[in-house]
Amino acid sequence: MAGFTVAIDGPAASGKGTLARHIAESYGFHHLDTGLTYRAVARALLDAGVPLDDERQAAAIASQLDFGGLDRATLSAHGIGEAASRVAVMPQVRAALVKAQQRFAARPPGTVLDGRDIGTVVCPQAPVKLFVTATPEVRARRRYDEISAAGNGLSYDAVLADLKKRDARDSARTDSPLRPAEDAHLLDTSEMDIEAAFRAAKRLIDAAYAPG
Ligand code: DC
Repeated sequence: MAGFTVAIDGPAASGKGTLARHIAESYGFHHLDTGLTYRAVARALLDAGVPLDDERQAAAIASQLDFGGLDRATLSAHGIGEAASRVAVMPQVRAALVKAQQRFAARPPGTVLDGRDIGTVVCPQAPVKLFVTATPEVRARRRYDEISAAGNGLSYDAVLADLKKRDARDSARTDSPLRPAEDAHLLDTSEMDIEAAFRAAKRLIDAAYAPG
């Protein structure tokens, strides 16, 4: 029997990753941050000196990607997110990664996947779908605090401008643009901390999930 999947989508720095980790931990589910899979492909292209729009090579890397070896720490850099957003517009890359993401989603007893197209494309049958948002200013503030703690010299305005550019690219692409599934529950975290977001998600999951 396929596992139970919680599908979480939303723009960059909306809080979806933290929420997904919380849910996975609380329910004993496997978690996949699908953004890391696009980041890993971008990183491999950059390391090999291959142009980011080389679809054939990018798809070859995507189809061989080891999901067990995705390391948040080395893939979290701001520049890798920007490169990932460019890699993510290529249909052959998406097709290869989506296939592997769907295999991951079937793992028992359950999974939490977060990204941009989980509820719409990767797991359209997921019994619980969340679309997590926050205003661009709140998201830029969170991202800015994160990267200045890591000693990066970017200004708040530069982070906000970058986020808006990334939102536009992720939402405007023709293949699997960022948008809520029709049956997704919207969760605006602009004025919510992680505990409040988790309580809201838990109510929805508990109504749909019967373990065992
Ligand atoms: O969530 P993130 O910042 O790690 O994602 C990096 C980029 O990857 C994002 O700008 C768009 C792309 N992405 C995607 O197209 N589909 C997903 N399911 C996850 C991420």
